[in-house]
Amino acid sequence: MQDLYLLAVAQKTVGYVVAVLLLIAFVVAIAVNVRKGRAEVGSEVELAANRKPYMDDEELETKKLDRTLGLGLVALGVIALTLPLYWLAEPGRQEGMVERFEEVAISRGEDIYVNGAQCAGCHGPQGIGGVASYTILDPVTGAYVDQVEWKSPALDTIMYRYTPEQVTYILNYGRGYSPMPAWGAPGGGPLTEQQIEEVIAYLTSIQLPAAESQLAVQKELDKTCAADADNNCTIPGGMYKTLGEAVFNLGYTDGFAGGAYSCGRCHTAGWSIGQAKVAGGGGMGPNLTGGAAIRQFPVAAQQEAYVSAYPKMGTAYGVNGWSSGRMGSFGTNPNAQDPKTAIMNPDQVMLTPVQIAAVVAYERSL
Ligand code: HEC
Ligand code: HEC
Repeated sequence: MQDLYLLAVAQKTVGYVVAVLLLIAFVVAIAVNVRKGRAEVGSEVELAANRKPYMDDEELETKKLDRTLGLGLVALGVIALTLPLYWLAEPGRQEGMVERFEEVAISRGEDIYVNGAQCAGCHGPQGIGGVASYTILDPVTGAYVDQVEWKSPALDTIMYRYTPEQVTYILNYGRGYSPMPAWGAPGGGPLTEQQIEEVIAYLTSIQLPAAESQLAVQKELDKTCAADADNNCTIPGGMYKTLGEAVFNLGYTDGFAGGAYSCGRCHTAGWSIGQAKVAGGGGMGPNLTGGAAIRQFPVAAQQEAYVSAYPKMGTAYGVNGWSSGRMGSFGTNPNAQDPKTAIMNPDQVMLTPVQIAAVVAYERSL
């Protein structure tokens, strides 16, 4: 890509050289003409162009004609050779432009992330996840309730689970009753549509390689659960009984990735501030207890499919669910579907099929 950009620059230089040469030729032509003109002063009568005897027919139809035709042929040859060459380089020039455009968008997006909107203050440098200090006020009276540290999910896997449109929606409107404010004009925020696009370009550029994120999840699971062959946790005195429970709560105790890989942060009230209430009892996401998941998905495989590839906003799911576009896909990357437009690799996913099956089994037991 860098090469294409250099190629475009090199071509620009050649263009400038040609332009300068033409300019010099033009100036020389004018100078010669002026000189010629001077010699004629006072002798217009004999030397006036229309008074000079012209070539005779003989010469006009042979030498002169051949010369003119020859020149025409040479000019045609030059055009025939250079025009295709020019076209040949056109895709490179265009790619160079797009590449340059993206680089600019990414660096502007980074500036907004770090300085302008200070996303980094909550979501961590390079989107590794963090915490937001937040004062909870009573939504009705506005009275002080509590001062908390609210987990802010890592954003270096955000394109693993949401499409750019979904991220745009989150940025436009923020997350009500959480520290995440609305950033876009539609939600009353300070950023323009273009700035939102630039932030997303930056976020896309910092997505983790698949191996790195999967290794991090595995390390975290080994620390909190160390599942045996039956997916039961084997850490002596550990908090979790099963792999599914550990996945559901990934990062609850130590803030791993700001809880980005967990389910509890949306499905358990108080999870994000370390005051988890009933597991799966509902928060921003619906209550999953009392067999709610089984009623929605009679067969576990249906629920696994839902959690893996979260349905598009406005599409039906389960027995009578309707996707609001807010949850995100945990086992299939929605940005790796069409190879032509894919911006991610298919292996960049939050959880493995085994981890998804385990967490679904856990939810069905709630
Ligand atoms: C004051 C702290 C704060 C700031 C500043 C902030 N965020 Fe957030 N953001 C949060 C919190 C907390 C959440 C999780 C809310 C929840 O619990 O549902 C969140 C959620 C998100 C999500 C959804 C992630 C997910 O997986 O659910 C995205 C995307 C996001 N923020 C992007 C940004 C961007 C981009 C910026 C800068 C323009 C930004 N945030 C600025 C605190 C913040
Ligand atoms: C960013 C918040 C968020 C996260 C994280 C999240 N969910 Fe959800 N989930 C939702 C929302 C919101 C819904 C309701 C459906 C909708 O709005 O489209 C939902 C719906 C569901 C449902 C369907 C429940 C029903 O009754 O319709 C299941 C099952 C589910 N989630 C499982 C999970 C699992 C498993 C994980 C973790 C791997 C998870 N969710 C992570 C927000 C989230």
